[in-house]
Formats: sequence, structure tokens, C-alpha cells
Amino acid sequence: MGKFITFEGPDGAGKTTVLKNVVERLKTSKFEMADFVITREPGGSKVSNQIRDIVLNQVDANIDINTEVLLFAAARRQHVVEKIVPALTDGKTVISDRFLDSSVAYQGGGRQFGLDKVLDINQYATGGLEPDVTFYLKLEPEVGLKRINTTRTGEINRLDEENMNFYRRTVKAYDQIIESNPQRFVVVDANRPLPQVVDEVWSKFLNVM
Ligand code: TYD
Repeated sequence: MGKFITFEGPDGAGKTTVLKNVVERLKTSKFEMADFVITREPGGSKVSNQIRDIVLNQVDANIDINTEVLLFAAARRQHVVEKIVPALTDGKTVISDRFLDSSVAYQGGGRQFGLDKVLDINQYATGGLEPDVTFYLKLEPEVGLKRINTTRTGEINRLDEENMNFYRRTVKAYDQIIESNPQRFVVVDANRPLPQVVDEVWSKFLNVM
């Protein structure tokens, strides 16, 4: 079995950009890209991408929280059976931008569905598959909120109170997940310039490979 590595973090932590930079370094390193599968959630397969569209882009659909948890879990199920497990069985290293921890943090904590309930429901999705290593880009909620409140062009894009509290609950849930799974997590301080964050993730990535 290959290694299963995930990247997690709250919005604004720079996770997707860091991961992109890590993949760039992989391409020019001693590793063979053919030995890696880079994927993301929600998504990672055709069906999962269709579910991603429902759950992330239909802003006015008024999706019930149970439906939302089940949709993320359904997308995850398809991703696991169609892409992740076959690659791992083939001996490949799978790197996923988000996985189950995102549901536990965002739906369980952020939307207050309950961390354990999200874990229970996702047993059907993952069949017990867990990442070997999870890189967590850590950001204090107030720093993250400031980042996502300011658009790339410098405009202030104020979140309302509800969204700010959602964000704080999500970060708190991530802290709880890390506390319960210390052996799995590599926590990286994301409150630094991007090149420093990428350097640290890369050197820790080399340690676990
Ligand atoms: P995306 O555009 O991929 O952003 P990011 O670069 O931050 O990952 O959007 C993913 C969003 O979906 C993000 O806000 C987290 C959310 N999400 C959940 O709420 N639950 C989940 O199970 C997953 C996988 C993602």
C-alpha cells in the first residue's frame, strides 16, 4: 500500500497555493511523478465533481445540514473507491487537498452538526480509511478572518457575524481533531510569508516519504 497524505486548514491558510508549490518541487525532485496521485475534495472523480457543484456553487439552494453532510460523504465515497484506494493499492502516494477532517471541522464544528456525528456518517464513506499523515496549515482565527476579509485587490469584503463565528468554530474543531490524533498531524504555522511555509512543508514532507 502507498502512503495517503492530506492537506487541511481553514480558508485563508493558503493550503491550495502551498500544495501547488509542493507539487512543483516534486516535479523537479528525485521522485517520479508517476508514483503520485494529486487530488482534492470535494471532487476527485466525475461524480464527486458533480456533487461538488451542488454543494459549493448552489448558494441559494438552502441545503439542509444533514443533506450537506451526506453530500460531502457521498462525494468522498466515490473519490475513495474510484481513485484513492486503487492508487494506494498500486503502491502510489496519494496527496489530497482536504479529506474527512474538513467535514468534521466545517460541518461538525462550523455548522455545529457535531464532530462525532460527522465521523459516524463518514464511516460509510471511507470504510475506515485514514490518512497516514496530515499537514495542517495553522492560522489563528483572527488572522484567517483578516485574510479572507481582504480580497486580492485589497478591498475589504466584510463577513457578517454569523460567518465569523462559523470560521472560529471550524478552527476550534480542527484543534480538537489534532488533539485527538497527534500522531497523524504535522502542524505548520501558516502565519508567515508563503515561501517560508512552503519550505517547511517541503522539508517535513521529505521526512515522511
Ligand atoms: P475550495 O474552493 O476547494 O477551497 P479551499 O482551497 O479552501 O479548499 O472549497 C472547498 C470548501 O469546501 C472549503 O470552504 C471547505 C469546504 N468543505 C467542507 O465544508 N466540507 C468538506 O467535507 C470538504 C471536503 C470541504
